[in-house]
Formats: sequence, C-alpha cells, structure tokens
Amino acid sequence: TSRDAIAGLLLDWYDIHARELPWRARPGQAAPDPYRVWLSEVMLQQTTVAAVKDYFARFTARWPSVEALAGAADEEVMGAWAGLGYYARARNLLACAREVAGRGGRFPDTEEGLRALPGLGAYTAAAVAAIAFGRHAVVVDANVERVVSRLFTIEAPLPGSRPTIRAHAATITPERRAGDFAQAMMDLGATICTPRAPRCLLCPLAAQCRARRSGDPARLPAKAAK
Ligand code: ADE
Repeated sequence: TSRDAIAGLLLDWYDIHARELPWRARPGQAAPDPYRVWLSEVMLQQTTVAAVKDYFARFTARWPSVEALAGAADEEVMGAWAGLGYYARARNLLACAREVAGRGGRFPDTEEGLRALPGLGAYTAAAVAAIAFGRHAVVVDANVERVVSRLFTIEAPLPGSRPTIRAHAATITPERRAGDFAQAMMDLGATICTPRAPRCLLCPLAAQCRARRSGDPARLPAKAAK
C-alpha cells in the first residue's frame, strides 16, 4: 500500500539528501550522542536550524558532556543562552542536566522516562527517544504537521486537527529507523514541503501525496479563523 511505501521512499531520499547537522551521527557512527541530541532539540524548539548551529557549537565546546554542563554555574549557562530567548528553557536545561548527571550521566532511554525530565515535553521526549535511542516514537513538530496534512489531505484546521495528524503520522512511522524517519520528515518540511511554495517536483513522496493530486497543496494545513 502507499502507506507502507512512504517510509521506504522517504528514507531512501534521506540517505542521499539529509542535511549535515552537527548534532547528527557522523558518517560511520551508529548512533548520535544523546546529550547532543537533547541539547539540539531543546534549542531547536524556539529557534531556526541556522541560528542554533552557532549556539550548539559554543555550548558543546565549553560543555562537552552532560556532566560538564551540570557542573556549570547558573549565570554562565544563562549568559551563554542569551539571544536564544525563553529563559525558562535555560533553567530547565540546567535542572535536566543536573538530574541526568545524578543518574551517572545516562539519559533515560524510553519516551516515558525522558518525559519525566525537567523541560522535556511530548515532542522533545519523542525526538530524543527516536533519534538517540532508536525507539519507535512518533515525532510531530510543525514541519511534520504540514507534511502529514498534505499527504493525507487533512482539511480540518490546526490546532483541532492535531490528534488526526498524529494518528496518521503513527501509521507511517516505521518500526526501524524511526529517528531517521523523523528527521527526514523535518528535512522534507524545511526544504521541499515548505509552507508557501512547496517544491513538489523534487519531492520523493509526490506520487503518494493527496494534496498534490488536489492541485493546490499549499492551502494545507488550514488554520482556524481567529
Ligand atoms: N528541527 C528540530 N529538530 C530537528 C532535527 N533533528 N533535524 C532537523 N530539523 C529539526
């Protein structure tokens, strides 16, 4: 079925076109470092990939491990965070680092365990579980919402459509490589299935996409009138 085809097509595309980002596993490395995955996902919640790159490089040069970050003074970390905004995130970041350092520096390796850490919401817990630990977690951010809304022509507006979007995302998330799948969906949303003028001619899922067939993919996802 086309549902089964989607993950395969997307992963084949990702194997060639994945963006090289500093928090991803290096070629030949099996899995990325959970500390780096967690740090990047917390930073990426409020800021673009382009802006996060510099902050990520500075943080990891200064604090190469979660134990190192846990040992930093509050003011140092708040200072390094300046410009990223949402200071509650930086406070939670430190609280989380200290909790993980207290567990011997090991992050919990399940979605549920991660969800219990300070500052980890549903998105971050799922992303870290899938990307760092290979768990079968359904990762839904704004990029994924857009791609899924279009693939399945979900006409109901956001935010009410979120449960429907999540259910569809779950049906296409593969048992294996869920972390690569999540990042492939994000890369697709960021580079091809863009909000205003999607580049369907380059899309590996064009033949599976109902919104493309409808002729006007950019109308989705609809937003509720204010
Ligand atoms: N946005 C948030 N997390 C991301 C990731 N791991 N890759 C690409 N874009 C992202």
